[in-house]
Amino acid sequence: MQEKAEILAMRALTGDIYRCTLRAPQIAAAARPGQFVMARVSQGYDPLLRRPFSIHRVAGATIELLFKVVGRGTALLAATATAASLDLVGPLGHGFSEDVTSPVLLLGGGMGIAPLLFLATRLRAAAPGQALPVLLGARERAELVALIEDFTRLGCEVHVATDDGSLGHHGLVTDLFEQVVPAAARVAACGPWPMLRAVARLCREQGHACEVSLETMMACGLAACLGCAVARPVGGYAHVCKDGPVFAAGEVVWG
Ligand SMILES: Cc1cc2nc3c(=O)[nH]c(=O)nc-3n(C[C@H](O)[C@H](O)[C@H](O)COP(=O)(O)OP(=O)(O)OC[C@H]3O[C@@H](n4cnc5c(N)ncnc54)[C@H](O)[C@@H]3O)c2cc1C
Ligand code: FES
Repeated sequence: MQEKAEILAMRALTGDIYRCTLRAPQIAAAARPGQFVMARVSQGYDPLLRRPFSIHRVAGATIELLFKVVGRGTALLAATATAASLDLVGPLGHGFSEDVTSPVLLLGGGMGIAPLLFLATRLRAAAPGQALPVLLGARERAELVALIEDFTRLGCEVHVATDDGSLGHHGLVTDLFEQVVPAAARVAACGPWPMLRAVARLCREQGHACEVSLETMMACGLAACLGCAVARPVGGYAHVCKDGPVFAAGEVVWG
């Protein structure tokens, strides 16, 4: 669905990472963790293409996006004033499983952490007594501080890795995997392709079910342009925008 969403807040978490709160009652009511919206990032048609963002959090009639400024579109979005409206299409795609019958581990790197907060909120509500370990990786401490607070407030066990060693483990978030993953866990991961490839391999070797959310380039978000195609092991291609962005790790050719 298409919805004009009012920007209620645009808060900088770091110099280039922002959290945008939007009043979007229809999208909020329909959203599931792992789904995304395609946002028109300016009030006109330049840039022409919408940009995809995971739904980071839902509360009542509001949704939140967590995004990093990496180019023109995200810079325009960050500069959009509160009370302006944002033209959204969503919620799009297939999200994460919300099954809590086996232990779950969440693993996010960089902006791939965005959809995991929404997922953690739903999993904690479904199984308040069940431990929910979360592994978060980022370049540096500042990128994680607010997110750690949010996951901790939900009652998650948060484990952290930073590239520069400014917080938690000095190194890759996947280094923490074996220390933390519960037996027979279901793993839900989102982040850069090399991180997801490593998680998929670890899960395959250790017998954990694994879902990954892929953040490929996307032009249309509506299965019309083939810009988001990923190869399937059985041959042919999947559209990340329509068939994903969440896939079972075994449904993707990791290369
Ligand atoms: C399903 C999905 C969910 C996403 N969720 C989020 C989110 O929650 N938060 C967030 O910050 N970003 C998210 N992204 C990535 C985000 O859409 C891009 O960063 C954004 O479109 C870049 O727009 P731009 O105009 O600022 O950059 P552009 O000028 O288009 O590109 C600038 C640089 O960013 C790179 N880039 C562009 N798109 C992507 C991408 N999809 N993945 C990695 N690098 C890219 C380009 O290669 C280029 O180097 C998501 C992407 C997908 C497909
Ligand atoms: S983004 Fe166009 S087909 Fe998926």
